[in-house]
Amino acid sequence: MGTPFPHVPLTGWTARSPEELLARARAMREELQQRRTVRDFAPTPVPREVIEEAIRAAGTAPSGANRQPWHFVAVSDPETKRQIREAAEAEEREFYATAPAEWLGALAPLGTNPEKPFLEIAPWLIAVFQERHGEAPDGSRIMNYYVQESVGIASGMLIATLHHAGLATLTHTPSPMAFLGKILGRPARERAMMLIVTGYAAPDAMVPVIAKKGLAEIATFVG
Ligand SMILES: Cc1cc2nc3c(=O)[nH]c(=O)nc-3n(C[C@H](O)[C@H](O)[C@H](O)COP(=O)(O)O)c2cc1C
Repeated sequence: MGTPFPHVPLTGWTARSPEELLARARAMREELQQRRTVRDFAPTPVPREVIEEAIRAAGTAPSGANRQPWHFVAVSDPETKRQIREAAEAEEREFYATAPAEWLGALAPLGTNPEKPFLEIAPWLIAVFQERHGEAPDGSRIMNYYVQESVGIASGMLIATLHHAGLATLTHTPSPMAFLGKILGRPARERAMMLIVTGYAAPDAMVPVIAKKGLAEIATFVG
């Protein structure tokens, strides 16, 4: 049972009554249910500290062997945002011209197109990178584990925190995304996974009518 590695007593955890558990789970579900992907942003500035807190929250995510194989680049610089928009729109024009009809059909109800003005209008773009492997001080490779899963979880926590703070978000995945690493000067061992666009929603923002699957469709209970 003993381990040579130091352990400390668990803190920050409270045994709650079933009523409390239900109330808290319900409150969280209700809050998350209010989140919508927004594609119309206001140019209103958002303090950097808010973004820092959200990224700190993402950094608390569980990860394979605690490797924390993520890097977040938060961009508010107008010239860098302009470069990202230009490169993303070039990729998106190509995508919309060549994507399979089935994929374009799935996107049609969302009303998306190759124009991405929000990449310049929104105050912050957070580029999420997966670290395919780490690097030791001597330059040798450190293995990372479950990179995709870990960065996916951290990104979900980032989006949830931004939403909780009161900001709108858009998960944007221009395809392919290699231009992000180049514009943002990231090392080759990192791979861009998504851009989280965030800020205040435009006062006249519209969102597509979509439905979420119900519990019976997404879950099976055994026992
Ligand atoms: C991995 C991922 C990639 C996405 N890529 C894009 C994208 O490139 N452009 C876009 O407008 N929306 C994108 N979205 C947003 C989805 O279209 C949106 O989440 C979905 O339609 C459900 O709407 P909701 O977020 O309002 O619930 C993406 C979402 C995810 C999770």
